[in-house]
Amino acid sequence: MKKTILLISMFVFTLLIFAQQAERKISIIPEPVSMVKKGGHFVFPDQVVVSISQAEKSNYLKNLVEERFSTAPGKRVVFVNSENSDNNADIVLLLNPIENNQIGDEGYTLQVTSDKVTIHANKSEGLIYGLQTLFQLLPPQIESNKKEDNVSWQVPQIEIVDYPRVGWRGLMLDVSRHFFTVDEVKKYIDNMVKYKFNMFHWHLTDDEGWRIEIKSLPKLTEVGAWRTEQIGWFGDFEQPDKDAPKNYGGFYTQDEIRDVINYALERNIQIMPEIDVPGHSSAVLAAYPELACFPESGDHFVRTGATFLDWNTGGRPEAIYENTLNPANDKVYEFMDKVITEVAALFPFEYIHTGGDEAPYTFWEKSSDVKELMERENLNTMAEVQSYFGKRVEQIILSKNKKMMGWDEILEGGITPTTGLMSWRGVEYGIEASNSGHMVVMSPTNYVYIDYMQGDIATEPRVYASLRLNQTYKFDPIPEGANEDYILGGQANLWTEQVYNIRQAEYMTWPRGFAVAESLWSPKANKDWDNFVAKTENHFNRFDYAKIKYSPAIYDPIVTVTKKGEDYYVALDPEIKGLEIYTSFDASTPDNFYPKYTEPQLIPRDAGIMRIITYRDDKPIGRLMSIQVDDLKKRVR
Ligand code: ACM
Repeated sequence: MKKTILLISMFVFTLLIFAQQAERKISIIPEPVSMVKKGGHFVFPDQVVVSISQAEKSNYLKNLVEERFSTAPGKRVVFVNSENSDNNADIVLLLNPIENNQIGDEGYTLQVTSDKVTIHANKSEGLIYGLQTLFQLLPPQIESNKKEDNVSWQVPQIEIVDYPRVGWRGLMLDVSRHFFTVDEVKKYIDNMVKYKFNMFHWHLTDDEGWRIEIKSLPKLTEVGAWRTEQIGWFGDFEQPDKDAPKNYGGFYTQDEIRDVINYALERNIQIMPEIDVPGHSSAVLAAYPELACFPESGDHFVRTGATFLDWNTGGRPEAIYENTLNPANDKVYEFMDKVITEVAALFPFEYIHTGGDEAPYTFWEKSSDVKELMERENLNTMAEVQSYFGKRVEQIILSKNKKMMGWDEILEGGITPTTGLMSWRGVEYGIEASNSGHMVVMSPTNYVYIDYMQGDIATEPRVYASLRLNQTYKFDPIPEGANEDYILGGQANLWTEQVYNIRQAEYMTWPRGFAVAESLWSPKANKDWDNFVAKTENHFNRFDYAKIKYSPAIYDPIVTVTKKGEDYYVALDPEIKGLEIYTSFDASTPDNFYPKYTEPQLIPRDAGIMRIITYRDDKPIGRLMSIQVDDLKKRVR
């Protein structure tokens, strides 16, 4: 009898699991071009037979399928050639030209019937993306790194046709301000491929560290890769003692760089290296002070996050300590030639990014070398001096059969037609450049700077600007007025001044990376904020299984303070639907038995602290926000 009851309850439990999963909403990020749900499911058997075109040469795909289906589902995976025996396969990976070729190199079709899954693509890239979509059709437990029981490993019957909106879908990681190991970079790349990113912009050099081995210039990494560690609010530190130990840093050897490049390429991710010059060069000058306008100053150190630029200028910073290469010194171009020669030999990608952003002109203006250069070359402004520098660097890059890309400041003094532009201070520079025939990547601060705070300053490490998920979701890589033919695509940038470790890098990247991925891949007409939010929550669940960190800031309200007469009012706007907000001014911790927030609240005269929490379905879902009333009052515009 006991046995029967046990069997019946197991049966009911299994039915419940099936029913629950059948109801699961399809949550593919980025949203596919077209998707037709057919009803019914395909349930993977214990042994998953995968047929794969002989044309598919890389082991990556095979390993990917094997690893995913054997780990959480605990399935046995068997491979056969699709040319021989499609019929018995559960997953068919077909690689051959498709008649209706709208899907291009990166597109795929995915069909789930009652007895198999078929993914068809023109190129391996498409198969990689088709598989990512297949994984996202499976239950979230597929992301787990251990065996998951009591899951029905099934996918809905569906027909998907999918291909990207733009060809350049990137994320930039700054490894100078904080260093990330090879394994951490690979992990970052692993997450990129899940969301169909295909470009990793590796910001390898900056004032706070030079991170790539250049064999002909060993001091770049012996000296330039190491600094005195300071922890806290990056950018605001006291200058450390000049003799303090250089105890923080790191760099990648050329073997490691090659390893990462190959790892990324297997995943259809190109890597664009950035060597940021002529500004952001303190680490170079620490190693080779003779490349500065003032080599003897005694001030050439790898910067630590202590203040060395004055940003209160309303535009280009002023330098307190010199961080620019001397554009009038031929040794600088010999240096650049050595660097570019080795970088060009390492990276197969066609562009090398040479920065050009935020170069202070402070020390150029004081330099007799620069004055002579201006007279000799008939240069009238410092922007023209920078343009002179940029053009000489571009000649070096072209001589290595590569193309140059730079941040949008390089437009100011003029650029050659062959220079690519990365538009970061807004989209307007990219629009202008695209209309004058330059290749452009859109990366505007106001949509895709994922170093900015994504929630309230009460819950986030302090950064000088904010960027909520809903704003990132509005990113359009081809804005009105741009010449589409010259827009390569777009990318988000993760500067890491305030990002001390890989967990925080993940937190800053996701979920805004989902929004960027969808903006770059999906047709504009397929984008829908409410649907995106629902999918994002599904992917939070996936990340929980994968143990990837993400920001839950969408559950925290947007806080705005206004003043009427002597009174201050706090308005709380939820970023997503379906949340209830509770507050207190008496320093106690609010819960859902406190009065529910409905309208802007008067701050009581004697209150010292406001606490805020959001609930959904009677459960706390937002983080407890505690804000000093004095801080709230300072927020009034
Ligand atoms: C930049 O954010 N300085 C390109």
